[in-house]
Amino acid sequence: MRSTLTLNNGEEMPWLGLGTYRLDSGRQARRAVGWALETGYRLFDTATLYANERFIGEALAGSGVPREELFITTKLWNSDHGFDSTLAACRRSMEELGVDYLDLYLIHWPVPGLRAESWRAMEVLLCEGLCRSVGVSNYMVEHLEELLAASSVVPAVNQVEFHPFLYQRELLEFCDSRGIHLQAYSPLARTRGFGDPVVGRVAERHGRTPAQVYLRWALQHGVSVIPKSSHPERIAENAAIFDYELGSEDMHELDSLGSGTHVSWDPTGEP
Ligand SMILES: NC(=O)c1ccc[n+]([C@@H]2O[C@H](COP(=O)([O-])OP(=O)(O)OC[C@H]3O[C@@H](n4cnc5c(N)ncnc54)[C@H](OP(=O)(O)O)[C@@H]3O)[C@@H](O)[C@H]2O)c1
Repeated sequence: MRSTLTLNNGEEMPWLGLGTYRLDSGRQARRAVGWALETGYRLFDTATLYANERFIGEALAGSGVPREELFITTKLWNSDHGFDSTLAACRRSMEELGVDYLDLYLIHWPVPGLRAESWRAMEVLLCEGLCRSVGVSNYMVEHLEELLAASSVVPAVNQVEFHPFLYQRELLEFCDSRGIHLQAYSPLARTRGFGDPVVGRVAERHGRTPAQVYLRWALQHGVSVIPKSSHPERIAENAAIFDYELGSEDMHELDSLGSGTHVSWDPTGEP
C-alpha cells in the first residue's frame, strides 16, 4: 500500500490517502490520523474549507512520522481567489498545518472571475518551493483547456468526484492525454450504491467488500483514491486493495453503472 505514482513534475504521490472532510475535532483527527498512519497511509487530504488543518497538522506532528515520509494536500477556498490572496491563503494553510512546505496545493473549485490570477499565484508557490506540486480540483475539460491555454505549468493533479456511479471517462482521457493525474474524491460515493446487485456480485466473486471494489475499480483506471473514514476497521479495510485485481468483465460491469450521479456538488453548476 506504500506504492506511489509519479506526477508530471517527477514528484512521487501515494495511490491511497485518507480523506479528512468532517473530521471536525482534534480528538477525531488525532484518532483517525493515528489509525491511518499505523495502517500505512502516508497521504492526508485536507482543505481550508474543512476547518481542520490545525487538527490534522497537530495529529501528524504528534505521530513522530518524519515530515518527508508524509504527503500533505490542502486546497485554496473559493473566497481566497486572486493573486495576492492565494499567496496569503497558502501561507495561512501552512501555518495552520505547522509545515514549511505543502506536497500538493489545489484550487478547490474553478470559481469564475479570478481563477487565472489564482493559478499565476500557484505558479509562484511552486517556483518558490513552498508547494512541491500544484493542481486543481473540480476542473472539467473546459476549465482545463482555459488554464492550459494561458499557462505553461500543467496541473499535476485534478481531484474530482469519481466512483462507479460517476465514471468520468471523457475527463479521465483528457487528463491522461495532458499528463494530469486524476485523483478520486468521494471514491466510495459516500457509501451510495453499496447495495447495488452488480457491486454485490463483483464483491462476492472476489471475497471483498463494496468499498474495496469501488477503490480497486478506480485504481485500475489509473485514478488514485482518498476515502474518508473515522473507524479503524474501515480505514484498514479501505487500504486492503493492493493484493487483488478485478478482471476485465468486472471492470466492464462496474463501468456500466456510470449514471452521472453526484454525491457532492456538480462542478458544472455553482459551488
Ligand atoms: N475536492 C473536493 O471538492 C472534495 C469534495 C469532497 C470530498 N473531498 C475529499 O475526498 C475525501 C473522501 O470523500 P468523502 O468524504 O466525500 O466520501 P467517501 O470517502 O466516498 O465516503 C466517506 C463515507 O463513507 C463511510 N465509509 C468509509 N469507509 C467505509 C467502509 N469501508 N465501509 C462503509 N462505510 C465506509 C464513512 O463513514 P465513517 O467515517 O463513519 O467510517 C463516510 O461516511 C474527503 O474526506 C475529502 O478529503 C474533496
